[in-house]
Amino acid sequence: MAEFLTDIKTLRENARQEILKGPITQAYGADVDRVIQVLNEALATEIVCTLRYKRHYFTATGIHAETVAAEFLEHAKEEQEHADLLAERIVQLGGEPDFSPDTLTTRSHAEYDASLDLVEMIKEDLVAERIAVASYTEIVQWLGDKDVTTKRVFENLLAQEEEHADDLRGLLERLPDSLKS
Ligand SMILES: [Fe+2]
Ligand SMILES: [Fe+2]
Repeated sequence: MAEFLTDIKTLRENARQEILKGPITQAYGADVDRVIQVLNEALATEIVCTLRYKRHYFTATGIHAETVAAEFLEHAKEEQEHADLLAERIVQLGGEPDFSPDTLTTRSHAEYDASLDLVEMIKEDLVAERIAVASYTEIVQWLGDKDVTTKRVFENLLAQEEEHADDLRGLLERLPDSLKS
């Protein structure tokens, strides 16, 4: 087993340096500016996903719309919660959460969609979830053990995006084939 890292005297001394950095100490192993940038890209993604699901929720029509719309609404709420968690972490790290609507769609990984067809909506949402799953997986791997708190935020989001993708696949599979052609 490796020796415990820093002696108590040094730990105490280090903690007194640059105290306005708050939770960022000398033990922080990541590039904090880059982490904030990545968090902001994910924040843009979550906001765009919230808007897309809201749009789909309010415009879903047809005989199967009710069940599907309920799922869209639930996802919209969860994406909103994800956005809040990311914004909170950005502020903890000393950054500024970017809520600017002007640049939202270019900063987001996933895309907005205004399809009117129920199956198209589900497919577009599924694609967006798969984008989120792929990018959050990469982010978790990239963070490694350098910023475990941010990593845990992304791990929790990732688990829920995987659930979303699975929900949407389930909806697609249950819809009658006549709708899917
Ligand atoms: Fe999300
Ligand atoms: Fe999602």
